[in-house]
Amino acid sequence: MTRPLLIANWKNHPSSLDEAKSLLKHWSRNAKLYKKLSFFIAPPLPYLETVALRARSFAQPASQDISALSQGTHTSQVTPDILKSFGVRLAIIGHSERRALGETDEIVSQKIKIALRAGITPLLCVGELSRDQDGEHFEFLREQLKSSLAGLSRKADSARLAIAYEPVWAIGKSAKDALGPDELSQTIIFIKKILTDMFGRALAERIPILYGGSVEVSNVENLFKGTGIRGFLVGHASLNAKSLGIIAQLLLKK
Ligand code: PGA
Repeated sequence: MTRPLLIANWKNHPSSLDEAKSLLKHWSRNAKLYKKLSFFIAPPLPYLETVALRARSFAQPASQDISALSQGTHTSQVTPDILKSFGVRLAIIGHSERRALGETDEIVSQKIKIALRAGITPLLCVGELSRDQDGEHFEFLREQLKSSLAGLSRKADSARLAIAYEPVWAIGKSAKDALGPDELSQTIIFIKKILTDMFGRALAERIPILYGGSVEVSNVENLFKGTGIRGFLVGHASLNAKSLGIIAQLLLKK
């Protein structure tokens, strides 16, 4: 049984390096717990070195994005090589907050290929903007997955891919507004079916699927047990030292 995955997506928080350090200090007291998971912290880039050094004993640094420009001179862009020099081996790609700024499936697909070529695991984020009774969100998800993963090689690429299902309407709210476990199971089955169509059953089974969107202490157990996911991408609750510790404990509960 592989270890549960827990990814802290700090987004543009906390607002100072000192606060980031105090969060890391708190977690380091619980290093034994976090080491039982595959725990990644995706901080704002200026905090990357601090995270890489101070969380070394219990977490791995991750990035919240990757540059779509692999060659040439580009002010502001951070290349995979720079990320790798800080120990980054996983990059969140296609987060809905980046898509809202104009990132298309084509750009996402390009970034996935750049990450894979550099030996960085792309964590592809997909998720519908809204849901209704007609189930149109399934069609939306199918399209998003197919175009974001277009052109990947079956075997080599799928072996290093991870997916985060994050329904956009459930992000940044509270546990009571998040997706329920039944809807989550149904959606994960659907995503697995698309991945099976693309990569074949054996390879698709190996691609970890995470859930993100208002994961908090109160819904983590119900969303984890029996829904087919391998872990969580956690936003706001990952900025609360205590909450994340409880989430980690619940993920390890038998
Ligand atoms: P949230 O964010 O946990 O605050 O909803 C999750 C995410 O956007 O990755």
